[in-house]
Amino acid sequence: MLLGPPGSGKGTQTERLVAEFGFTKISTGDLLREAVRNGTELGVKAKSFMDAGKLVPDDLVIGLIKEKLKGLKGGVLLDGFPRSLEQAQALDQFFEVELAVDLEVDQEVLIKRLTERRSCRVCNAVFHLEFNRPKKEGVCDKCGGELYQRSDDTEKVVRERFNTYTERTAPLTEFYRKKGVLKSVDGMGPIDDVYGRIAAVIKAA
Ligand code: AP5
Repeated sequence: MLLGPPGSGKGTQTERLVAEFGFTKISTGDLLREAVRNGTELGVKAKSFMDAGKLVPDDLVIGLIKEKLKGLKGGVLLDGFPRSLEQAQALDQFFEVELAVDLEVDQEVLIKRLTERRSCRVCNAVFHLEFNRPKKEGVCDKCGGELYQRSDDTEKVVRERFNTYTERTAPLTEFYRKKGVLKSVDGMGPIDDVYGRIAAVIKAA
């Protein structure tokens, strides 16, 4: 799993790790945004929490993950789950975590990454107006889909997401350290450099 604050690069690195290592990706953020777009019961319940930078209630997200993991074989890469101690304890009941990579990035860097991020409506690929520019403005390099700015990427909501992270998610590093599966990785610097560090940790595990 990839841990780390909003904007630390979990989605960006997940895309490459899935391509290189063949993991099955499960991203709760992508799944929840899809549910909101499709107006499903889950999406309707989740939207107000996401727009406010709060966590979607644990029972909803745990149910979603259980459903997605059912019958899956081979390596799985979790992006954005778990996000609370309750979720981590629930996950323990049905899934063995082999490695938890915690991406460490300074907060002022995170704000710049998030407020200038653009995401693909179709394939969820992420870009940045300065650090990871799409070849053609407003168009996804990977699938040609439209790029948009996430509604929770405004500075006000981003700050609330940091508060939520500090309060609810940061304690997970201690939880996984005690289990002996935590690896902290420097998430600063170019995307390729961060990828190299994560890949090395995975290969050594
Ligand atoms: P989610 O979508 O998971 O958001 P997040 O954790 O806040 O993480 P982000 O997607 O914002 O950032 P990231 O770390 O993936 O960074 P990225 O690679 O895009 O969750 C959204 C909401 O859904 C939550 O607030 C909550 O409401 C709900 N939710 C989701 N999961 C939940 C759960 N388990 N329980 C309850 N609620 C849940 O990179 C950011 C930008 O930086 C991009 O532009 C990228 O191009 C750029 N970038 C990346 N790496 C670098 C680099 N090394 N150098 C320069 N730029 C970089």
